Amino acid sequence: MIKLTSVSRNFGERTILEGVDLCVAAGEVVAVLGASGAGKSTLLRIIGGLDRQYLGCAQVDGRDLSTLSESQLAGLRAEHIGMVFQRFHLLDHLNAAENIELPGLFGGPDSRRAEALLDAVGLSGRGADYPTNLSGGECQRLAIARALRNEPAVLLADEPTGNLDEVSGAAVIERLRNLAKEKGAASLWVTHEARVAEAADRVLRLHNGRLETL
Ligand SMILES: Nc1ncnc2c1ncn2[C@@H]1O[C@H](COP(=O)(O)OP(=O)(O)OP(=O)(O)O)[C@@H](O)[C@H]1O
Ligand SMILES: [Mg+2]
Repeated sequence: MIKLTSVSRNFGERTILEGVDLCVAAGEVVAVLGASGAGKSTLLRIIGGLDRQYLGCAQVDGRDLSTLSESQLAGLRAEHIGMVFQRFHLLDHLNAAENIELPGLFGGPDSRRAEALLDAVGLSGRGADYPTNLSGGECQRLAIARALRNEPAVLLADEPTGNLDEVSGAAVIERLRNLAKEKGAASLWVTHEARVAEAADRVLRLHNGRLETL
């Protein structure tokens, strides 16, 4: 479902990713550990089609991202890829339910689905609240609910428990893992928390631009 072959990314003189190879199958959960600045978010942005300045080959759902037009890439993202960003990217002028329904622009809004997703992440009854009135951890859970909205075939999560306490972090990880297993989503979690990585099927470490098996 996700296949990277020899992917490299430079920022000016600095090489952040160097010949990264990675395969994530449908239904598989892979965690990537790595120090701050190791290139974890960069890796996710490439797979999510948000960074096209890489070398090598990146395939998602059998499609080589470099061959897609911007609109084809937008379509692939909307239909097949769910992303939980490190900095959430919630829209402050939309309430919680509307933020969840946003990826549904292509599939049509469905407020019952928004409610079910809010329940699933422990935000029952908060659909009318705006992100500015939610705590950091609540925003995090809302971002996760939004990423699950279209039951994506590929789920990319950047520090999914970064703002959560141990209990709600564990609940979120269980929810993300269940999605992968029930719906057969290929999941890539980027984290520096070992306890998050423990819930993955496979753990890799990004170090000096390369992915190492742990
Ligand atoms: N657009 C950019 N232009 C220049 N440098 C960048 C850009 N994006 C990222 N970098 C650099 O690439 C390196 C890797 O960044 P990245 O965000 O991928 O790290 P990370 O592993 O996600 O770190 P963290 O755990 O702190 O989130 C950093 O040193 C960062 O400064
Ligand atoms: Mg990051």
